Amino acid sequence: MRKAVRFFRNGRLIERAEFSPSTTLLDYLRLEERATGTKEGCAEGDCGACTVVLRRLLEGKLVYEPVNACILLAGQADGCEVIAVEDIAGEQLHPVQQALVDHHGSQCGFCTPGFVMAGFALYHRAEQKSCSRAKVVEAISGNLCRCTGYRPIVDATLQACAKPAADKFTRDAKEASRRLKKLADGKDVFAGNEKQFFAAPASVSSLAKLYLKHPEATLIGGNTDVGLWITKELREIPKIIWLGRVKGFDKIESRAKEVRLGAAVKIEAASEALARIDSDLGELFRRFGGWQVRSAATIGGNIANGSPIGDSPPALIALGATLELQRGAKNRTIPLEKFFLEYRKQDRRRGEFVRAVTVPKLTKGEVFRCFKISKRYDQDISSLFGAIKLRLKNRKIAEARIAFGGMAGTPKRAKTVEAKLKGLSVGDRAAMEKALVSIEQDFAPLSDMRASAEYRLKAARALLLKAMLEIAGKPSQLTRAFGRRADAHAA
Ligand SMILES: Cc1cc2nc3c(=O)[nH]c(=O)nc-3n(C[C@H](O)[C@H](O)[C@H](O)COP(=O)(O)OP(=O)(O)OC[C@H]3O[C@@H](n4cnc5c(N)ncnc54)[C@H](O)[C@@H]3O)c2cc1C
Ligand code: FES
Ligand code: FES
Repeated sequence: MRKAVRFFRNGRLIERAEFSPSTTLLDYLRLEERATGTKEGCAEGDCGACTVVLRRLLEGKLVYEPVNACILLAGQADGCEVIAVEDIAGEQLHPVQQALVDHHGSQCGFCTPGFVMAGFALYHRAEQKSCSRAKVVEAISGNLCRCTGYRPIVDATLQACAKPAADKFTRDAKEASRRLKKLADGKDVFAGNEKQFFAAPASVSSLAKLYLKHPEATLIGGNTDVGLWITKELREIPKIIWLGRVKGFDKIESRAKEVRLGAAVKIEAASEALARIDSDLGELFRRFGGWQVRSAATIGGNIANGSPIGDSPPALIALGATLELQRGAKNRTIPLEKFFLEYRKQDRRRGEFVRAVTVPKLTKGEVFRCFKISKRYDQDISSLFGAIKLRLKNRKIAEARIAFGGMAGTPKRAKTVEAKLKGLSVGDRAAMEKALVSIEQDFAPLSDMRASAEYRLKAARALLLKAMLEIAGKPSQLTRAFGRRADAHAA
């Protein structure tokens, strides 16, 4: 057992044994280190002004992950090197910074440290994968600028990342790997005491024991939901158990007929794995928060949080996913849809945690579509999310599984519509439209700031019709702003 959280900053080892468990990384940097280059804008993960980069070892390779320091806890930096905006320049500005100067990419400058750090993360990703304008736009979609305008920022970042030359981090890579390897001791971390602690168990059995002993503790994956309880609701959270170090929890297993994702698999990693089932899933996860959110948020957190507008549950329910739960030494597996009982009430007992989710691959004759509707195209929570899986036989619907988010207090299946679609030909538009009217028997959505009930019902019907038209053979360019990923984001 280790009693302190440990991470590096600027080559310096930082060990913290006594701290308030809900201290954010931003507060640690600004208030304790007085490193005030990193800014606080929204304090809820939306603006990116607080972006810092975590450099860590992933399967023996160094990775650079941009995160929102305002909602990441300082304890979650365990095992990493924290890179803040002050750390990246040498005797000269970093190429990402210099390009922003050259392109006049900063006016008031408040957002600039965040853009620099998102660009810095892309710079290091670009060392392995080529860069493009589309990739720059994707990388900075979690950053807001209110005065400069995005064109010069995109131009600058593209110029810097097009041909990234070695910087001091590339040159220091071997030494950094050696340092980080030393931090990976595989021990349980417990910093604090029985009344207040930040714990990071290293194995499933340690997690199960600790959570049974402290079932009132708050589990966190990426803290992208819980972080807002701290910064917006000003909640004190005395006992925190972070799942980011549990061995195997970040594992993705692609088997012959299914993909199993450990509860702490990050959305960024889940995206790549699930896009191989269907390209719509890749597009869904590409639009999940910004890069900073996806680099921290986990699939387990997205499910366990129980939000009616979480994006992954409807998609995974339509695909027929199952959920593994564990309490003490006991495991159980349930269909994902049965996990959601009513608004914010899940089938999870005291001391029980989500261990993994298993998603079946599509089989012969099966087709899938999913659609996210949000006010902003990128980095926005859904107003409505629809997913549909059909099993076709001779172009007739043998079976339909349809699930929606944003239409009820939980993610929910449209069972009446499913029954009405059975036996219809996918090309028969008139019969489809008639069947889809029955969506009103499945849902009585609410009106809220994101959408009115009437809009939700109309849009849900339209999404299903769009799916049918595409499946019947209409090219997706005719039905979508960007088409299916395979034929759209070729850049
Ligand atoms: C700016 C921003 C944009 C966002 N955009 C989207 C979006 O586009 N789509 C979307 O769906 N969501 C979005 N979210 C919400 C959030 O990012 C997701 O719900 C995310 O997947 C939560 O995962 P997490 O690991 O960060 O959860 P956490 O905040 O760590 O935990 C969330 C809840 O789940 C519980 N929990 C976590 N892991 C487990 C487990 N293994 N077992 C039991 N309980 C567990 C926690 O106790 C807590 O109650 C956004 C959030 C922000 C701040
Ligand atoms: S301060 Fe806005 S994302 Fe952190
Ligand atoms: S330069 Fe002012 S907000 Fe971006």
